[in-house]
Formats: sequence, structure tokens, C-alpha cells
Amino acid sequence: MPPTALIVGQSVMKAFQHLSTQDLHTRRVEEAYRVVAECITAVDPAMRLYMFGSTAVYGVHEKGSDVDFVALSKTDVEDGKGEDAGTQVAKGLQAEFLGKLAKVVRQKHFSWNVEEVRRTRVPVIRVKGGSSVDFDITVNRRNGVRNSALLRAYFEQDPPCRWLSMGVKRWSKRAGLNASVVGGSITSYGFNLMVVYYLLQRGALRFIQPDAIDVANVAPVPPYLPLEPPRNDGAELGEQILDFLAFYMHEFDAARHVISLSRPGITTKEQLNWTKNAEDLARMNGEKINYQWCIEDPYELNLNVGRNVTPLKRDFLRKHLEKARETALLTTT
Ligand code: CTP
Ligand code: MG
Repeated sequence: MPPTALIVGQSVMKAFQHLSTQDLHTRRVEEAYRVVAECITAVDPAMRLYMFGSTAVYGVHEKGSDVDFVALSKTDVEDGKGEDAGTQVAKGLQAEFLGKLAKVVRQKHFSWNVEEVRRTRVPVIRVKGGSSVDFDITVNRRNGVRNSALLRAYFEQDPPCRWLSMGVKRWSKRAGLNASVVGGSITSYGFNLMVVYYLLQRGALRFIQPDAIDVANVAPVPPYLPLEPPRNDGAELGEQILDFLAFYMHEFDAARHVISLSRPGITTKEQLNWTKNAEDLARMNGEKINYQWCIEDPYELNLNVGRNVTPLKRDFLRKHLEKARETALLTTT
């Protein structure tokens, strides 16, 4: 007999027990914000610093989770609905700025570990050390700020939904599904898109047009959004978790449909031309893109956030969805 919703909810609540004694206020990242902003100013005083990622999405900062920053020019911010350039030239310029920034960070904070990561889709520097938070810094890219603001706007409609998201994220890391762990294939960002898509399909959230999100209206450090304990002693959370798992195991038609926040209702692979043919074409160009588990990025044109999900990884995901019901998202083992 699989555990009841109440037991599932309470088990997941227990896994997050440590948060009840933690200061989750976003002010804890403000120190890191100041330090990074100072370094950015040293490279180019006209650049502005924005925070995005989980701290922005949830409006709380979990101890130990890294923070994402992006340096934006005045024009980037003013043209806050503009598309990010994905050209090699743009990437080159970004890498150049980040190279200078890395140098400044190393000079000012010589004990920190500063890594320039160039082979990723987006050039980034990864800073670990000294301070209590680690962070990633990118430059001239609005999409992270926009997609974080979009996810946040959804969670603001029903703040307790953040528990579902946090439970799913924790599970994805423990199960080896999350791209941040070896063998994983879907980022936390991708899992958040899955959570919101599920809630939209259930009518639990109202659709937001992605184009409505304008960086010009987003706070550089999004405000704190207190996290209240789940309702009804976790029963509602448990029901939501079981329903989320059932949705992706039995209802979502992965062979034909796309997880998408770009438009209300159903999006098909056919519609986006995310087909076997497109997979083969990409392979001929030396890219490995899968359209087995499709998650449309709301801002990046023609980007499948689930592109690393091979047929094998998709089966692995299904197995874990199945197992998650017995183990309350791997909180009972
Ligand atoms: N992001 C993105 N495109 C991706 C992956 C990430 O734009 N393919 C951006 C998103 O804005 C996301 C941020 O990078 O909010 C951080 O991504 P990620 O680390 O996956 O999500 P977090 O919510 O920060 O989760 P974690 O706590 O695991 O770091
Ligand atoms: Mg993160």
C-alpha cells in the first residue's frame, strides 16, 4: 500500500525541518551582492547587478544554496523585454568582460576560488570561497532575470506551492535526476518549469504571458517572501505531490506534448518542430539534442530545457517518478 497523502506531506515537511530554525531572509545574500557589485563597478561603473535563480524565485535564501548574479548594462535593463544575443561574437564579448571581472575578484579577494567557465552555453564565472555564499556571475543576459521573475510571479499567486517545488528539487538531486549531480539531466530550473506547468494544467495557477515580464520592472534583489509552514499539517502538500507524480507518470503525453509556459493549454512537439528529424539534423551538426522529454524555455528561442534527456534518462525519470510515490519523494529512506 503506498503511503497516504497526509503521510507523504508530513514526511516531506520533516525533510525540511531544518528550515524552521534558519534565517531564510534574503538579506543574507545582500553582503555577497555588495561585494560583487563593487567588483563590477571596478570593471565598468555603468553596469548594474541583478540577482536571479532560486533566491529570487522563492524569495528566500536556503543556507548553502548558491546565488546567481548577472551584470547588465543600462540598455539591457531599459530594453527589458529584449531578446538575448546568442551569437559567438556576443559570447566572446561576455567572456572578455568576465575575464576582467575574474581578475578584479581575485585581486580583491585573493583567497577565493574563481573559475572562468567557457564551454557552457552561457559564459560564466563561478566563485567559491571566503564569504558564506558561493555564486555564479554572467553578463548581458536578461533571460535568467526574466525567467526567475516569471517563476516567482507564479509562486506569488499561491506561495505554498513553493513547498512542492522545493520537495521536487530536493528529490531530483537525491534521485540523481538533477543536472547538478553526476548522471543528472534536468536542471532545477527545468524541474520548476515542470512544477508550474503541472499547476497550470490543473487550473491551480492563472496563466501569465511571458512577454509581460520586463527587466525594467524587476528589483535587482527581489524582496523576501516569507515561507509559511504547509497548510493542513501537510495533507494538502501530500496530495499535490502525489498528483504531480501521477500527472507526469500517466497524464502528460511525453511522446507528443511539450511542457511549456509559453502559451496556455497544450503545446505539441509537432508545433515546435521538435521531431526525430530535428534530432537527426542536430546530430549532423555535431549537437546532441534530444526531444524525448520536452520543456520549452519561455524566453530562449527553440531551446529544449530537457535536451539532455536521452531515451535511457527518460526511462530513469519514469522509474523514479514511480518510486517517489512509495518513498514520499525519497524522504522516508
Ligand atoms: N537558468 C536558465 N536556463 C537554464 C538553466 C538555468 O536560464 N537552462 C537560470 C534560471 O534563471 C534559473 C537560474 O539560472 O533560475 C538558476 O538555475 P538553477 O541552478 O537550475 O536553479 P535554482 O532554482 O537556482 O536551483 P538550485 O537551488 O539547485 O541552484
Ligand atoms: Mg542556483
